[in-house]
Amino acid sequence: MKIGLMGYGIVGRSVASILDERKDTELKYILELPEKCVQERMVSDLDIILNDEEISVVVDALPAIHPSYEFIKKAILAGKNVVTSNKAALSYGFEEILTLAAENHVCIKYEASCGGTIPDITEAVRLSETNEITACYGIMNGTTNFILDSMEKNGSDFDETLREAQKLGYAEADPTADIGGFDVKNKIAILSATAYRGFVTTDFPVCGIEKITKDIIESFKKKNRMVKLLGLSLRKGERYALGVVPVVLPLTSLEANVPKNFNIFTLKCSNAGDVKLYGQGAGGYPTADAVVRDVLFMGSDIYSRPYFLNQLTYDESILTGTGYFNGNTKRGTLSELLKEAGDTFFAFEPDFLN
Ligand code: HSE
Repeated sequence: MKIGLMGYGIVGRSVASILDERKDTELKYILELPEKCVQERMVSDLDIILNDEEISVVVDALPAIHPSYEFIKKAILAGKNVVTSNKAALSYGFEEILTLAAENHVCIKYEASCGGTIPDITEAVRLSETNEITACYGIMNGTTNFILDSMEKNGSDFDETLREAQKLGYAEADPTADIGGFDVKNKIAILSATAYRGFVTTDFPVCGIEKITKDIIESFKKKNRMVKLLGLSLRKGERYALGVVPVVLPLTSLEANVPKNFNIFTLKCSNAGDVKLYGQGAGGYPTADAVVRDVLFMGSDIYSRPYFLNQLTYDESILTGTGYFNGNTKRGTLSELLKEAGDTFFAFEPDFLN
């Protein structure tokens, strides 16, 4: 199998290294900026890759929405199967890209875009064959979990821990996407669409961890609680609601005990019950491994037939719970509580987790 790779950052390099070690794959091209083309297989013109009939898969390991979004569409229109780890680009054009792939009879796979190496997308597809998936939630960002874990365990400072996460390659180029919850926003939207088999909106409440201090963590701990940044998604029939928010959890829950940059995903299933998937949600080799699995299992599942057939309606009134803000607790929907909290620290305890 001959492959073209777009992007040679932390994930791209790890993908190249794994593919180069295999005998059944050949990484024929790497798309790079002209001044960075230091290997014979590096090219700066995407058309060289797309016009080569030997290339059956284009791997996208670029970091931002643009030009990844345009390049993915170009690759699909050129008849190439695509694997992407780029959640920002995928979430930005999810319906358009998935529809374009179906129309052009190619596969697009995106395991690495949502939870690094964790097979949450693969399992959401498989579980949705035999179950109605009624909720998805979890810790979906390694950087923020690394920060919260370190603040809780070592009393570390927010900025210092963020710098460490950046050095370790977990954080986005612009870490405000991590801290502000926008990285999780992309992931929960991609996972929900896949699990519910219908396209979802990207317009829903998002609240990050900027306002969480060591004192806040300490005061929740005294009440046997912990705060973690969670992606939340709930479905009732054809209605659904999404959110990203710091969530108050019992100290005994699995989520409260997820350390460092690890992620955990839960899929609530009508027959299977709660299925939890845990692992490395970020980092070069773990993420690259998911990319390579997608390459190797290309064409083996849903993406070659109509899949997103459910017509879902966004209904924020179903995502209810208790809000913690201004030193008080109040019940309501996530969106109305967040509006009321304004610019102050906010945390949420969703009813569907109790
Ligand atoms: N910045 C992301 C994280 C990388 O910290 O989880 C993986 O998507």
